[in-house]
Amino acid sequence: MDIFDKCNTDGGYFGYFRSRDDHFFSRPILDSLPGRTMVFNGKECIQWSINNYLGLAENEEIKAVAVEMAKKYKTSAPMGSRMMTGNTQRHIELEKALADFLEKEAAILFNYGYLGVIGTLQALVDSNDTILIDKLVHASMLDGMILSQGKFRVFRHNDMNSLESHLKRVNRDRKGGVLIVTEGVFGMQGDLADLPGICALKEKYDARLYVDDAHGFGVMGEKGQGVGSFYGVHNKIDIYFGTFAKAFAAIGGVSASDKKVCEWILYNARTQVFAKSLPLVYVEVLLKTLEIIRNDTERRKKMWANSKKLKAGLRDLGYHVGDVLSPITPVYVPIGDVQLGMQIITKMRELGVFITGVIYPVIPKGLVLFRMIPTASHTDEDIQTTVNAFRKVRDELNLNLDTGISAFSG
Ligand SMILES: Cc1ncc(COP(=O)(O)O)c(C=O)c1O
Repeated sequence: MDIFDKCNTDGGYFGYFRSRDDHFFSRPILDSLPGRTMVFNGKECIQWSINNYLGLAENEEIKAVAVEMAKKYKTSAPMGSRMMTGNTQRHIELEKALADFLEKEAAILFNYGYLGVIGTLQALVDSNDTILIDKLVHASMLDGMILSQGKFRVFRHNDMNSLESHLKRVNRDRKGGVLIVTEGVFGMQGDLADLPGICALKEKYDARLYVDDAHGFGVMGEKGQGVGSFYGVHNKIDIYFGTFAKAFAAIGGVSASDKKVCEWILYNARTQVFAKSLPLVYVEVLLKTLEIIRNDTERRKKMWANSKKLKAGLRDLGYHVGDVLSPITPVYVPIGDVQLGMQIITKMRELGVFITGVIYPVIPKGLVLFRMIPTASHTDEDIQTTVNAFRKVRDELNLNLDTGISAFSG
């Protein structure tokens, strides 16, 4: 048996899509810059599938900084990891600015959100400690948990009874620390973690709380400080995590916490200690982006207004749109088999509306989820065109829109 034998099969992760390799459903090629419209298959489509919440992907001021800084620093600077030769005053300034924005003592930069989540969990949790993790968290937290070698328990999605019963059991013969791990906005279905409930439990059972708020950072709360601030419990989050790949429309991630905790992470997170530091062009871009996010509150307002309009328009047509408190617009449609889901996506794209679909095991069997992201860039006309396309597809494919999932969290 050769180690490469498996590569000739259609097994493995996403094997079905790998074997199709159609560039339509699997790794579609979008031939233009990210924005409210993008070119797909030679046609300009309204784009609902990128996490460009605040419309900053198209921002000209940020572009100007990027161009200027690429001239100044080239794309190579700095070289090496932060530990050795890759640290700069601007990295430290960005960390200070992020800590200030997030009202935490300190912050640590990472090159990718994914690496930040893994590095933070691996640095903080050791084999004596226990992670209590929500069943529906993003893969990065599961991978961080595995790398940490801590013990772990999975609680039912956003279920405080389930979390409490795990906390009780862990505390019975507790040896190390306990870290509750959750997403802030659950990125797929758009629902929010019950942070008030989780915070009450973490205090009662003497645990710590880590929140990966990839989809809430810059988006939720009056100032964009995330889901904790939306619920008024931001100061109870022990480690707040955000990525720059979504509302910030850039790349990288940040963990924010107490000074001593951040120093520990800085020296112990393997994904950062043993990796080249974030390029200076991005550090400068992120300083500018943060300034815009702090000062331009109109963007958040526009995004919320667009989210409300899109949700209302689709509900009026009879579509089941998850009743969520984030701007994410999760549209659930019953499908007998995957083919119908693919047909809907194909027709929508032919009508100039780019959506993507998610199926089991992410959501219950027999459904497709169209996870739509309204942004500050979308116009009323975009929303109207999209609603019209959903109407046409509903009628032409004679869709049954009754999901029968009122009890389901979506
Ligand atoms: C909840 C969550 N955490 C982490 C990540 C990884 O972030 P990045 O894309 O910046 O690596 C993602 C990206 O999809 C995410 O949704």
